[in-house]
Amino acid sequence: MASLNWIGKDAVVNHDREVPFKLLHKVPSASVGKESKNLVIHGDNLEALKALMPFYKGKVKCIYIDPPYNTGNEGWVYNDKVNSPKIQEWIKKVVGREGEDLTRHDKWLCMMYPRLRLLRDLLTENGVIFISIDDNEHCNLRSLMDEIFGIGNFVVSFPRRTKSAGKTTDAVSANNDYVLVFAKNKKSVVFASLAIDDKAYKYKDEFFKERGSFALSQTLDYDSLSYSKSLDYELTLDGKRYYPGGRKDKFLSRKAGNHRSSDWAWRWSKELVNFGHKNGFLVVKKGKNGEPRIYTKTYYKVVIEKVNGSYQIIPIGRTKKLSTLDLTDSQYSNDVAKKDLRGIFGASAEFAYPKPISLIQYLIRAVSNTRNSIILDSFSGSGTTGHAVLDLNKKDGGNRKFIMVEMEDRVAKNITAERIKRAIKKYGYEDGFEFCELAKPLFNEKGQINERCSYTELATYIYFTETQTNAEKKNIKSPLVGVSGGTAYYLLYEGKGKNDLTRAALTKLKIKQPAVVYADRCLIDEDELREKGVVFKQIPYEIKVY
Ligand SMILES: C[S@@+](CC[C@H](N)C(=O)[O-])C[C@H]1O[C@@H](n2cnc3c(N)ncnc32)[C@H](O)[C@@H]1O
Repeated sequence: MASLNWIGKDAVVNHDREVPFKLLHKVPSASVGKESKNLVIHGDNLEALKALMPFYKGKVKCIYIDPPYNTGNEGWVYNDKVNSPKIQEWIKKVVGREGEDLTRHDKWLCMMYPRLRLLRDLLTENGVIFISIDDNEHCNLRSLMDEIFGIGNFVVSFPRRTKSAGKTTDAVSANNDYVLVFAKNKKSVVFASLAIDDKAYKYKDEFFKERGSFALSQTLDYDSLSYSKSLDYELTLDGKRYYPGGRKDKFLSRKAGNHRSSDWAWRWSKELVNFGHKNGFLVVKKGKNGEPRIYTKTYYKVVIEKVNGSYQIIPIGRTKKLSTLDLTDSQYSNDVAKKDLRGIFGASAEFAYPKPISLIQYLIRAVSNTRNSIILDSFSGSGTTGHAVLDLNKKDGGNRKFIMVEMEDRVAKNITAERIKRAIKKYGYEDGFEFCELAKPLFNEKGQINERCSYTELATYIYFTETQTNAEKKNIKSPLVGVSGGTAYYLLYEGKGKNDLTRAALTKLKIKQPAVVYADRCLIDEDELREKGVVFKQIPYEIKVY
């Protein structure tokens, strides 16, 4: 497979491993409700994604990101360019002197690579990532994703209508961007069919409750591609006679043998017509020329089917397969996004280029079984993803949770979190969210553990580095962190002077299987530990760095 090269690539291919692990600290005054599992994280997503890893690796079903498009548009400093001061500083630090020669495309690729690596690790095996992008980086992103996710996990690139008219000065007006879709493992993903647009189903009758509304698009007769003698018959409905095509003389002529393959016939057999008529599936209406025509009713919720030799009315869910043209509908355009935001902030809505709620909901619903899943957006801007999740839960009774990350100081609290806060109040959503800041790294420059780190945080981190799986918070019962692959993991972390592995402490652990014990010091000799199947690891030096 051809792979993409750019200046600075060598410096970033394994950079996700080097990012220091930071703790997340909740800010109750900026949160809504208590202990909500929805998160709004203020910080650079590289560090935030890393901080999420011990808790969410392999647990996120859908990721939607809308990274900077890298248009080079100088006026749009925060979300359009990788020239944001924070990203500039980061590139200087990570790529070093070579970074001075980077083009804006090199910089963008350097910025995206480690983030995409972390995002991939956060996805469930049947998870999907959706990325909004336009022609500035579409090709580069596709190559990057092929490399990180595997070319076989490419699903589709949806064009999306951005607006109805472009600049008149453009040779060709560019009215679309894309949503690039990759699966973590394409074989494990099931894409849903969407409920079809029911605009065509505009009529109601006495069966509305059990059958839904109906469409009247087709007459019972048509000029066929292959004429069928058995479907060319005289039909009597409520005492009146009807002929395919409406002409008795032509019918008689066909019956006399003068028929062509394209001649008119009924679409339904006599038996089906009898059943349909008796059950209200046929209606006589005036056609275009004023003559009476028989129409078949297509109900939204039911169809007629032959079961064990006889016709029956069967309930169905009318759905259609996803199409690459779906997002060209104007309901997914930027104009709608602006209206969404104005609905919350009024005319003062200050955020350039938000995405519409409808787009995120379409994408979430495109993946089957997301009702209880986690949805992540690590370039969250105005917070559309969180809003879309809360709204979808209200509509369909789901229990989805969102995680959003936003780097810019002026945006995270005042726009991302504020939007969700206002939306909860305005639309009566039941859930809340925790606002989090990225705290200091878990280990300081001297390699000591950050003193704000709680027992559960350190235990979760240790369990993750030992097993590469996430510990269940409820299963952490100090000093036992958890059991994995037949080994029990213990952590003595009770405060200064209380974290020694003494004989008394060991007896208290009541160890019954091979065990790893993390503690400040060990006061038992090695032979005795070996005999008991215990491995001692010293805090903080032997805690692996993830
Ligand atoms: C195009 S906007 C996203 C808009 C969003 N989809 C919406 O509907 O409002 C991109 C956002 O990502 C943020 N961002 C850029 N780089 C980031 C990073 N490294 N970490 C976290 N957020 C970042 C920007 O500040 C900006 O708000």
